[in-house]
Amino acid sequence: MPLYNLTNRPRRLRRTSALRAMVQETQLTVNDLIYPVFVMEGENLKQEIVSMPDCYRYSLDLLIKEVKECYELGIKAIALFPLVTDDKKDNEGTESYNPDGLVQRTIKAIKAEVPEITIITDVALDPYSPFGHDGIVVDGQILNDETVAVLAKMSVSQARAGADMVAPSDMMDGRIGVIREALDEAGFTHVGIIAYSAKYASAYYGPFRDALESAPKFGDKKTYQMDIANSREAITEVELDIAEGADMVMVKPALAYLDIIRQVRDYTNIPVVAYNVSGEYAMIKAAAEKGWIDEKKIVLETLTSMKRAGSDLILTYFAKQVALMLK
Ligand code: PBG
Repeated sequence: MPLYNLTNRPRRLRRTSALRAMVQETQLTVNDLIYPVFVMEGENLKQEIVSMPDCYRYSLDLLIKEVKECYELGIKAIALFPLVTDDKKDNEGTESYNPDGLVQRTIKAIKAEVPEITIITDVALDPYSPFGHDGIVVDGQILNDETVAVLAKMSVSQARAGADMVAPSDMMDGRIGVIREALDEAGFTHVGIIAYSAKYASAYYGPFRDALESAPKFGDKKTYQMDIANSREAITEVELDIAEGADMVMVKPALAYLDIIRQVRDYTNIPVVAYNVSGEYAMIKAAAEKGWIDEKKIVLETLTSMKRAGSDLILTYFAKQVALMLK
């Protein structure tokens, strides 16, 4: 006789690893991962980003090798970010739509070597602007509509080079609709848009700005990125971006915003993307380096939490490491 006559004993389903696997609700697979990569000018260069251990900026020749390796590990998509030299930066971000710019050359070269991999490009002015802001600056203000016009040119230029999807990360109003129209008019109806819809003015982007030397030279990004305290506003942004033609919507950062991922998931049926950003990466790496946490387990737990919260896809600097782990 048992000590107590319990009707329900949830532990029954946790008794063996086979039972646990049978009732597991969330599975993380390599298909969920998008690998953000940094490209720079030059040859045979591989520079570790100080605040992002094991994460590198590559010159194009080495990046191609890295991307090939990732594709062979099953990673289906990369998100491309350029380190633009200072002499190419201007307030209007004109280099962003140079047909021979770093991003455009990189897209073409990767498509020639690894044609099946999905290339997602970043659409925003900050890597191209001496001010490090995501838009054109006049009298300390970030102009909206003038910036959107540049973003549309940038998107078309990236599509022309062979990008599969463009991902506007700038948070200007109305840019998804304008970009959609510009892509369609230029004959790129097949090129998709991943909208950074709920992108917060977060301190978690610090290491990324080190990687691209793109920290804002004055002020902060609070007049365009969202207030970290808001959640209903995230749904408003998602609603607008979907109405304007977004194919997928993103929540960024991810870990401190799992509630937002869940709300967006419940609001829409289109794919939801989470961005496991640089600061989230750096925190895990730093604690693991100190021997304070088990890196592999923490990485899998963290990414699983994002899927459980409702994201279909995750941009993560851990993508390659996870692809190796899941093999
Ligand atoms: C800029 C951009 C940022 C990130 C992606 N695109 C930084 C910012 O908004 O300042 C951050 C990514 C990360 O932290 O991993 N448009």
